[in-house]
Amino acid sequence: MLSGSQLFSIVCVVSALFYHGAFAQTLDPFTLGAFTETATFSVANQLGFFLDQDLNVTFFVVPNSTFAYSTLLDGGFDLVIGTADNPVNLRFNSNDSLSIVGQLDLGPDIVISGIPNIASILDLKGKALMVDSPVSGYAFILRDVLSLHGLQFGTDYTFQVIGSIPSRFEALNNGSLPDGTPVFATILTYPFTVQAAALSPPLPILARISDFIAPFFSSSLAIRTASTNSSASTPLVRTVAALLAANRFLADPTNQACATAAIAAELGVPPAQAAAEYASATDPVSGEVSQTDFEVGRQALLNVISVRMLSAGFSGAGPSFDFADAIVPGDGALIDYRVRDAALGILKTKSSADGCPLISGIA
Ligand SMILES: *[C@@H]1O[C@H](CO)[C@@H](O)[C@H](O)[C@H]1NC(C)=O
Ligand SMILES: *[C@@H]1O[C@H](CO)[C@@H](O)[C@H](O)[C@H]1NC(C)=O
Ligand SMILES: *[C@@H]1O[C@H](CO)[C@@H](O)[C@H](O)[C@H]1NC(C)=O
Ligand SMILES: *[C@@H]1O[C@H](CO)[C@@H](O)[C@H](O)[C@H]1NC(C)=O
Ligand SMILES: *[C@@H]1O[C@H](CO)[C@@H](O)[C@H](O)[C@H]1NC(C)=O
Repeated sequence: MLSGSQLFSIVCVVSALFYHGAFAQTLDPFTLGAFTETATFSVANQLGFFLDQDLNVTFFVVPNSTFAYSTLLDGGFDLVIGTADNPVNLRFNSNDSLSIVGQLDLGPDIVISGIPNIASILDLKGKALMVDSPVSGYAFILRDVLSLHGLQFGTDYTFQVIGSIPSRFEALNNGSLPDGTPVFATILTYPFTVQAAALSPPLPILARISDFIAPFFSSSLAIRTASTNSSASTPLVRTVAALLAANRFLADPTNQACATAAIAAELGVPPAQAAAEYASATDPVSGEVSQTDFEVGRQALLNVISVRMLSAGFSGAGPSFDFADAIVPGDGALIDYRVRDAALGILKTKSSADGCPLISGIA
């Protein structure tokens, strides 16, 4: 899977060079790890926002959060897009040196979805639920929402540790693991929530997380704290600038048709499904367009902390840890805006009024 994604990214860049007719262009390599291709990433990749910043971005689909963030800390990834609970956990429990550059979304279409014969949350009693890690953000969300329905972890249900959302979606679709073990339900997000609804029969949505926890800070842009500096021309700053410009493009309704075409091309889905993905990505309550210039929502971050706290997820931080102080943005802190601010200084925006040339040439 890793080499496949890498190959895909290389193909994009080479065809982009044809389009721009600039074979002499020198591109800086940049390595991005993420669980899924967000709509903002699809727009950035398909519409040449990375190329505008002279970047050759290699996109790695990460298999699980442990791998994603240990690789980031080891220098294997330059940036990881993943749920904010991971940096919160690693920073506050383990004092790991990573920082959040900004907030991408508000919990992208996060739902609890089940196999077709599971009709409600209460049907999950006595079942095992699929998770990435039993001690990470989405497992804590599951525990919170199930406890609001009177179901307690350990007593009423257990966890199956499976991995990231693409593998959980596939297992849910199959109804079992490769060894025949039955599966029942899991958390899904963009773009899989729409894909689950498009199946025949559709996979039922048992609960929508934004009905229980909102605002919620899901996807964060995370980096090693050491790479947070004010040099305006680093590949990191330029990558964030490309993502910021792509995010503004996505948020502008006049670009709807072009953004939808970019999503269709990047995800390889038919137009009707891409339209539903666009609607999901631009939903003001859960999508990717409400955090202007990736500003972190304080209440959204506090909800991440509170949900982890409900599952006793701060044993490393200890009972006297000052969360209110620790979430104040600052140089070297959990929230460090220096890269974001430098990126805003070199933004190269565009509009579909100037055309919609997709790099992949599809759609
Ligand atoms: C982009 O990066 C990949 C992987 O690091 C590399 O193999 C490829 O040659 C690069 N392409 C360009 C056009 O720089
Ligand atoms: C995470 O992925 C890595 C790399 O594929 C794998 O070695 C590891 O066992 C996985 N960890 C979990 C908890 O699934
Ligand atoms: C956390 O790490 C920083 C350096 O990254 C260090 O200065 C500080 O003392 C550490 N705090 C604890 C409690 O270990
Ligand atoms: C799902 O089923 C397909 C075909 O039967 C199989 O190739 C694949 O490995 C299965 N995936 C999972 C995650 O069980
Ligand atoms: C700034 O960050 C880049 C990596 O993004 C690093 O190469 C450079 O040494 C850093 N500069 C300073 C002054 O820390």
